[in-house]
Amino acid sequence: MDTQVIGHRTPRVDGEFKLTGQADYTVDWQVRDMLYGYPVPASIAHGTLKTLHLDTARAMPGVVDIFHHGHFPELYRASKSQVSEMRLPFEDERIHYDGQYIALVVAESFEQARAAAHAVQADYDQEDGARTSLLDTDKEGQLLESEGVSRGDPEKAFDKAPVTIDHTYDIAAESHMQMEMHATLAEWRDERLIVHESSQGVVYQHKAMARIFGLPEESVEVVSHYIGSGFGNKLFMWPHAVATAGAAQMLGRPVKTILPRQQDMESGGNRPASRQRLRLGAKQDGTLLSIRHDSTTETSFVHPYVDSLGSATPSLYACDNVAISQRLLEVNHGTPCPMRAPGETSGIHALETALDELAVELGMDPLELRRRNYAKNDPASGLPWSSKHLDDCYTNAAKRFGWEKRNPTPGAMRDGDEIIGWGMATACWPAMRLSCSARVELRDDGSVMAACGTQDIGTGTYTIVAQTVAELSGVSLKDIEVRLGESTLPAGPLSGGSMVTATALPAVAAALRNAFDALKKVATGENGAFEGSDPDNLEIEAGALVDKQGKRVSFGEILSQQKLGSVSGEGQAAPGDEKNQYSFRSFGAHFVEVRWDPGISRLRVARVVSSIDIGRAINPSTARNQVEGSIVMGIGMALTEKLDYDPRDGRLINNNYADYIVPCHADMPEIDVELPDNPDYILNEFGARGVGEIGLTGIAAAIGNAVYHATGKRIREFPITLEKVMDI
Ligand code: MOS
Repeated sequence: MDTQVIGHRTPRVDGEFKLTGQADYTVDWQVRDMLYGYPVPASIAHGTLKTLHLDTARAMPGVVDIFHHGHFPELYRASKSQVSEMRLPFEDERIHYDGQYIALVVAESFEQARAAAHAVQADYDQEDGARTSLLDTDKEGQLLESEGVSRGDPEKAFDKAPVTIDHTYDIAAESHMQMEMHATLAEWRDERLIVHESSQGVVYQHKAMARIFGLPEESVEVVSHYIGSGFGNKLFMWPHAVATAGAAQMLGRPVKTILPRQQDMESGGNRPASRQRLRLGAKQDGTLLSIRHDSTTETSFVHPYVDSLGSATPSLYACDNVAISQRLLEVNHGTPCPMRAPGETSGIHALETALDELAVELGMDPLELRRRNYAKNDPASGLPWSSKHLDDCYTNAAKRFGWEKRNPTPGAMRDGDEIIGWGMATACWPAMRLSCSARVELRDDGSVMAACGTQDIGTGTYTIVAQTVAELSGVSLKDIEVRLGESTLPAGPLSGGSMVTATALPAVAAALRNAFDALKKVATGENGAFEGSDPDNLEIEAGALVDKQGKRVSFGEILSQQKLGSVSGEGQAAPGDEKNQYSFRSFGAHFVEVRWDPGISRLRVARVVSSIDIGRAINPSTARNQVEGSIVMGIGMALTEKLDYDPRDGRLINNNYADYIVPCHADMPEIDVELPDNPDYILNEFGARGVGEIGLTGIAAAIGNAVYHATGKRIREFPITLEKVMDI
């Protein structure tokens, strides 16, 4: 498809709103008579709440009410797929993790609510035996039949393989550390509940809220116009939102709750810690004979969240004998949830580290090992790929990086005091598409409005929807209004799984085409600009209808002439039978240079070259930005990020930006991202596959592999903090 706007770098259409402070994030909303909620977290991880001492807090200035187990509406539980945490707030007095809400203080100001929340005292019956980490217990966890995969005879193939490796990799729990913390503003108008929530899925959250409050779905509205990112922890509703809506209902006044960073980290989701055993068997030439990938992940005692660690492994490399297993172990922490490329970020990390170990064992170049096992079809299903150009990603990124100059001996490459390490890994993430609806309005002032009940979590969805309208209508971007983030709009997808682009744009296009049909009907009808013409002879060109004789009339004039404010079209789009005929995944490759200065124990990522094939990038600017952001996140995962839970009582120790170490500007390497343009027209008419998550897969493994190449030390407990590399 030859395009004018799609595939071209486009500044964010909402950039001006963000820069000028006009973008309305949840915390910015003010409504008349609004109160502020502030949750009180439990200070034990395991036991029962005995007594709440509320008198001091109640007497403090501005305090209106305090909600808790004995003082809260009766609600219904939602199903486990609808919410992040099934247990309702204040449901009973059992405490399952430090940070679980035991009360919500509501006051006239945020500061008053916060001060009073700190004055609430609680007595507990604390119980022994809190399980504080998967990584320090012998407990095995429950085997999940649903996660199991087996093909061939991996055990026999492993026993016969001339070269094998068998290692266990531990990854610490991580925090999303999204900029904008969880927040809710709940307002009841008559029997209608209106919720402003920083949400990655307004349509899903409005259904969950309706279920929990026993309301018809049309009585609940969820709004999320702007989101300061989420990375997965805003996909499904958390208890703070339910607590806030319940308080607002009982008080008959709107209540706004903004989680402080500490509570956001304790009880607003995390990537669960994992332990993975990888057993690989290969021939001397590198051909994989057997892959066994056995994982355990954590969840909380109040919600069975499964991070599917083995889901990419059966598809990534050609191998006849594969077995995947996963176990789930409950711990006394806040509930984990999806975090950017959930499951596969951890799973591919272990697999790509294990492959590097196998390459060392074989004395083979790690890139060559991956090429040797290239999967031409999806080995899991036997289906052809809708589009796969991973071989080009390997070739291009290796060339840009200079991989052919790599000396395979660890520690052999030096630059002054620094030892240079080079590592690589494969990236992979599914290319998903769901069904979606949208509405488009053509207006008499020549502008176009497109609306869809999905949302822009900072990734650039407003812009790509506007680009799609501009491409197909010829109307310029400045005359296009995009409305997202309202559950009352035509139903759109979660902003998760990197599926919005592939899912929403075809629906917007369908709605736009229906709006064009409505416009043509107006134009060819009585007194219309093209009265009596055959609508099929009219073409769309630069915001106008044009007939075969070259007569052109703009959309706006056509409508004005008929005294119509607008015409609109609704559209639906869904994947068809192609989903049974092809396997849809995106692939890419990361190459990383680290520098290790043993004299001063400094370890830095110096350079990253990535080639990520996402089909057609609708907006190469925001698409590249997504991969760059993923690389930054991968540096944190590889080297610094780790939620530290106190082994004595399960309390999160580093519950703030000072103690939980994320990479900062000074840590940034040179980042070179290539997005090869290989449109995937089997997935959708625009050839786009989505880009939010794939960049994070493989990057931390590539960094770890580079650290091995620099230092000769294989660290299998992530993050690779300095003390693990130092000779102490
Ligand atoms: Mo992503 S973890 O699906 O928001």
